[in-house]
Amino acid sequence: MRTIIEPFRIKMVEPLRMTTREEREAILRAGHFNPFLIPAEDVLIDLLTDSGTSAMSAEQWAGMVRGDESYAGAASWFRFEQVMKDVTGMPHVLPTHQGRASERILFELVGGPGKVVPNNNHFDTTRANVEHSGAAAVDLVIDEGRQPRLRHPFKGNLDPAKLDALVREVGPERVPLVMVTVTNNSGGGQPVSLENLRAVRAVCDRHGLPLFLDACRFAENAYLIKLREEGQGGRPVKDIVKDMFDLADGATISAKKDGLVNIGGVLLFRDGELARRANNLLILTEGFVTYGGLAGRDLEAMAQGFREVLHEDYLQYRVRSVEYLGEGLLRAGVAIVEPPGGHAIYVDAAHFCDHLTPDDFPGQALLCALYRHAGIRAVEIGSVMFGTTDPATGKAVHPPMQLVRLAVPRRVYTQSHIDYVIEAVGEVYANRRAIRGLRITDAPPVLRHFTARFAEV
Ligand code: F0G
Repeated sequence: MRTIIEPFRIKMVEPLRMTTREEREAILRAGHFNPFLIPAEDVLIDLLTDSGTSAMSAEQWAGMVRGDESYAGAASWFRFEQVMKDVTGMPHVLPTHQGRASERILFELVGGPGKVVPNNNHFDTTRANVEHSGAAAVDLVIDEGRQPRLRHPFKGNLDPAKLDALVREVGPERVPLVMVTVTNNSGGGQPVSLENLRAVRAVCDRHGLPLFLDACRFAENAYLIKLREEGQGGRPVKDIVKDMFDLADGATISAKKDGLVNIGGVLLFRDGELARRANNLLILTEGFVTYGGLAGRDLEAMAQGFREVLHEDYLQYRVRSVEYLGEGLLRAGVAIVEPPGGHAIYVDAAHFCDHLTPDDFPGQALLCALYRHAGIRAVEIGSVMFGTTDPATGKAVHPPMQLVRLAVPRRVYTQSHIDYVIEAVGEVYANRRAIRGLRITDAPPVLRHFTARFAEV
């Protein structure tokens, strides 16, 4: 089989700044060993996130110029609304400025003290918004999804038996909705199968519960269904996408991922009454219902992005390029979450830094080593992001996995950039015992990974 190439060529470039190891050492210290606090221009290959980092197409930029900036009823809004209806089949479309704005509105409506929200794995902002409303966020991913090296085609699946048991235990009146995150970002970017969505839907129907998707990466999920699920191989991705949304009563979407834009979000409902109440909250903090905190040009870019993301040559290249990174790291001996998912490779930092304990924040320590060695920026998904303190004992409580995510921005880096990353991570791995643990010197009470400061142990 021939090399799968980037199905685009480049007409505008952004130079990268090369730094020396000494410079990076100083930058890392000035950023308190937290890559979120490092200026982006001091980063060579930025794999911090695939969110809002996409390169837009010529057609998207053309849409930006066409953008209608009318306050109400802009032509750009109607174009965007129609695309979202075509892609998802959902009758009620609300624009928001990004995913967490959709989450905030949704959980202000349905959350609250005493409520319980199940998900395969809540993303950090989703969990924070559920908890901010006073509700509890419960992760019910299948057991296979918690074992990094175990290969299973759909490690993002939500366990229907665990869901049924939870609903019976707390009572369906306390469960306002069930959420499934596609792909499961906090669980390794792993896809959810159609079969599993149907099984979760059946549990919801048994208890009369709505099902919502956190659909940031719905196209990548659909493409992985096409590749991995029996009977789906010959189907157009857009039909698989339709099947996924047909099973749901609504969705929150950050358009910064599969919307192929730098800013934007969507909130979708099947139920008109819920949509009406959500629109009232939208007007309160985001903006009028036909722009929701965005410019008309942003709506144009989203309308085009949500179409382009369903091109199958794009999705083939996308999924293959992430898999290529994973294969290269495995060849270098690095343990990763297997098989590779849709948007990122997740390095098993507990394995990489097996000389450190979870109290040493091995993921954060690995981030610092990657930056220091090669100017690569990544993100920790482990004890910094999800660790808590037991109020009774004062002891740290650690999540089940210590991961470092190498997220691949869409249409931004070429194969040689990725080859550089594979080489550099392999070199850090060969010298891994030199990585020192970290301790927190300062941290806010919630979402601490964004701004926490560290010192080397
Ligand atoms: N849900 C999932 C599954 C996400 O991955 C994200 C964002 C959000 C919701 C929130 O969307 O950022 O537009 O408000 N994930 C980014 C990431 C930040 O790096 O994975 P947002």
